[in-house]
Amino acid sequence: MSEPEDTKLEARLAEQESFEPPESFVEEANVSDPDIYDEFEENWPECWERAAELLTWEEEYDEVLVDDDEPFYEWFTNGKLNASANCLDRHLDDRGDELAIQWEGELGETREYTYEELHREVNEFAAALSELGVEEDDIVTMYMPMIPELPIAMLACARIGAPHSVVFAGFSADALATRMKSADSEYLVTCDGYYRRGDGLDHMTKANEGLADVTHDTTTVVVDRLGDELEHELTENQHDYDDLVADQAGASLEPVVRDAEDMLFLMYTSGTTGQPKGVKHTTGGYLSYVSWTSHAVLDVKPADTYWCSADIGWITGHSYIVYGPLALGTTTVMYEGTPDYPDKDRMWEIVENYGVDQLYTAPTAIRAFMKWGSRYPEQHDLSSLRLLGTVGEPINPKAWKWYYKHIGGEECPIVDTWWQTETGGMMITTLPAIGEMKPGSAGPPLPGISANVVDEAGEEVAPGEAGYVTVDRPWPGMLRTLYRNDERFVSEYWEAYSDSDADEWVYFPEDGAKIDEDGYITILGRVDDVINVSGHRLGTMEIESAVVGVEGVAEAAAVGGDHEMKGEAVYVYVILEDGYEEGAEMEAAIVEGVEESIGPIARPEEVIFTPELPKTRSGKIMRRLLEDIANGDELGNTSTLRNPDVVKDIAKKL
Ligand code: WT7
Repeated sequence: MSEPEDTKLEARLAEQESFEPPESFVEEANVSDPDIYDEFEENWPECWERAAELLTWEEEYDEVLVDDDEPFYEWFTNGKLNASANCLDRHLDDRGDELAIQWEGELGETREYTYEELHREVNEFAAALSELGVEEDDIVTMYMPMIPELPIAMLACARIGAPHSVVFAGFSADALATRMKSADSEYLVTCDGYYRRGDGLDHMTKANEGLADVTHDTTTVVVDRLGDELEHELTENQHDYDDLVADQAGASLEPVVRDAEDMLFLMYTSGTTGQPKGVKHTTGGYLSYVSWTSHAVLDVKPADTYWCSADIGWITGHSYIVYGPLALGTTTVMYEGTPDYPDKDRMWEIVENYGVDQLYTAPTAIRAFMKWGSRYPEQHDLSSLRLLGTVGEPINPKAWKWYYKHIGGEECPIVDTWWQTETGGMMITTLPAIGEMKPGSAGPPLPGISANVVDEAGEEVAPGEAGYVTVDRPWPGMLRTLYRNDERFVSEYWEAYSDSDADEWVYFPEDGAKIDEDGYITILGRVDDVINVSGHRLGTMEIESAVVGVEGVAEAAAVGGDHEMKGEAVYVYVILEDGYEEGAEMEAAIVEGVEESIGPIARPEEVIFTPELPKTRSGKIMRRLLEDIANGDELGNTSTLRNPDVVKDIAKKL
């Protein structure tokens, strides 16, 4: 395109506020009838049978929804099924030779698994786990990067009815130990290391450090990812993955029949307190819900090659790399490494090489691509793409439009999907073939989802006014409880807006939002003490306790400040004990302390030393003010402070 024309196009795009789904897409879409919203509404909760119908059940369920003991809902009661049978066995007759997983390592090596092959691997590893003593309902922890053995291990667990608990590989040894202890998990699947920017990274040392902290007995399986590059001595209760699987060559294991409400997995996530929350997801409701949303929102069809570039260590990868896509029998792409290795066109090279149909990624990545420039995607043929998606944090209209134009060629709908670890799957987004897209706004709630934007009193706000997201009807993919902590489940998510006397139960996701005249919801961000760094959820309390754990630190406050690329970044304000000196050395110790206790993603952007923190008369730290300072914003009201002067002193330091 010539220069002036291109500029004209940019100008038009910058002004355009809404976009219609491309006709070519609508014609072929899985869901394209606008009546679906009314149909779900009129037929609620039976409408959710549409989701359950996407699965193969061993025994039919009695009732779609049981709500006798709110907010402890049950879905598809007495239905029986197995998740690995749904993701593998039932595809063998028709699609056994089709690809289930296409994996690419950072160094460029590839591994492909047909459904037949994946089924075999999963059977063998399931047999190996059984041989090691894993029984139904035992929780198996996985601490692995993006290698095929991770989904294989997850599906092997699902096959034998052992819930998995995947810990993101970038998390620290401490984080691993906390999660294993909290779940009483006696089994760990991990690996020796993996590649990042071309270097072999040691992972096993971290895993071993974590294990050393776990007080109960454990059995570990170690995948050899790095070969000769890194040799680790295995102890007596540590086993080599390849040896175990070789012993089970050709094994075939009947999938254990699970109840719909049986736990499929646990996923720990950050909240207001320092202790991570163990979110419990079930076999029937969760699997139906992620299959349905993969079908309706991501428009996944069996013949597609679908790529979600998230990490399986987060809920996005569970729902939309592993369970949803495989349940639908499609080909799911997995990439081990970073998007700019060896060069900044790596993502586009993968799209071109595999002929990717749908790409689901995060705003933080899109902002990076935008900064690197359109010359990288322009080097590749991206015409295979049919749909684009984003998840994890609000996307600014500028990044949305860049994605639409430079990646989608103005021919792909974009779904901006709002959801959470707790919701299991997508909740608020446009359906890609129905209704217009408005950059920056996720869209209306999905059919059957009853989300609102309300004020403090629970009343719906007027269009344009800021309020809080609430959901006043249950949905199949919802978390059932926090592991072994029903009380916290109720107090975290249901207390704020429910009226238990009137039997009105309202789920509170702790996000701020606005709604427009068309019912489109724009998410403003978390309203609790959670920071969203590049779409990753971090608790301020967790960061603060890591900082206070550093020798010489007396008190600390962590807040989120705006960040051009990451969305939000971590700022920590630190008071030192007497006798310790401010400066680079102390700062390095604090950064290291946070990385050790949580992981590099929580690395503070800035450490600000201060003799005092702004506090209310009752002694509460005024985080709002610290956020204003981090953002360089006009300072809010300081009149209720016990120590108003301190704010100006701190602001001067930044
Ligand atoms: C929080 C949940 C959903 C899987 C990945 C994150 C924020 C998520 C969007 C979006 C604006 C979003 C919310 C939410 N968020 N998607 N499309 N637009 N914000 O899962 O770690 O449980 O975090 O991510 O604040 O509460 P999570």
